[in-house]
Amino acid sequence: MDQKLQSFSIFTFNDISGLSGNSQAFKRTKVAIQFYNGEFLPREAIKFSIDDVGILRGYGIFDFMRVIEGVPVFLENHLDRFENSAAVIGMELPFSREKIRSVIYELIKVNALPLGYIKLLMTGGVTPDGFAPGKPNLAVLNDVLENNAQKCYDEGTTLMTHDYTRDFPTSKTTGYVQAVKLLPQWRKDGHFDVLYHTAGTVTELSRSNIFFFKGDKLITNENVILKGISRMKVLEVAGGMFETEIRDFTLDELREADEVFMTSTNRRVMPVIKLDDQSIGKGKVGENCKKLLKAYDEFVMAYVCANKV
Ligand SMILES: Cc1ncc(COP(=O)(O)O)c(C=O)c1O
Repeated sequence: MDQKLQSFSIFTFNDISGLSGNSQAFKRTKVAIQFYNGEFLPREAIKFSIDDVGILRGYGIFDFMRVIEGVPVFLENHLDRFENSAAVIGMELPFSREKIRSVIYELIKVNALPLGYIKLLMTGGVTPDGFAPGKPNLAVLNDVLENNAQKCYDEGTTLMTHDYTRDFPTSKTTGYVQAVKLLPQWRKDGHFDVLYHTAGTVTELSRSNIFFFKGDKLITNENVILKGISRMKVLEVAGGMFETEIRDFTLDELREADEVFMTSTNRRVMPVIKLDDQSIGKGKVGENCKKLLKAYDEFVMAYVCANKV
């Protein structure tokens, strides 16, 4: 066993009160505690089997939320989506929603990170025959959240475009092969990410949803995408500020937009100023996008204040 690991005790789910009592010891070591299949343990101690169909066949899902000042932001929406992601690909959660929720709060309490994330990760489990799923494995991970560079918000980002349709777009599966494959290319060309389209109809980025302004009208799509929690909340915030429209749109239309931005849990409302080699609008971050980012951040902080325990 790893030397460092020997200094940690492993707690079972039933020992949850004991874990809280030992939180000082964990904080001193600065190793965040995680949850895996009923046990609380340090990250390095989580071991997935090489016979897990999550690894062998890519059969797995996850979800990701921010934790601000101890509050898991939009927790119930993320739990809804996690359950939906599982249902879409025919997986069953090994723990109840109540149990997962209480694990999340316990990790947040014991790790006490000022700005963190919670990631739920479920894989198909150890296969009996190299293909069929076994008993699902569930990890709940909590660690420090790295913020995106302010430069992305001040100067805007640029995207490459690519014709690709994800398998099971409404499920947050662990299958990101296409995006990982494209990463060196978009980096080489100085882009921030990839925007997918299906024969010219825009869908989403590798890990974000897409919006645009035409004048003061805000437009986004709803088909063949992962319905982002940030997308849902941005639409709620924007509803009080702009006329909004939900419909399919093409890459050509997006290129003619006045402002474009992406949304995701960690990127919030992030401006896009260029698609491939073509500038969007005035080629700089637009005023509507700035207003919406500010309003969205305020909306999140209002949620945090209202949900502090
Ligand atoms: C494919 C895809 N679309 C959209 C999103 C944005 O979702 P959310 O706003 O819930 O972070 C993600 C998040 O990772 C994603 O992977």
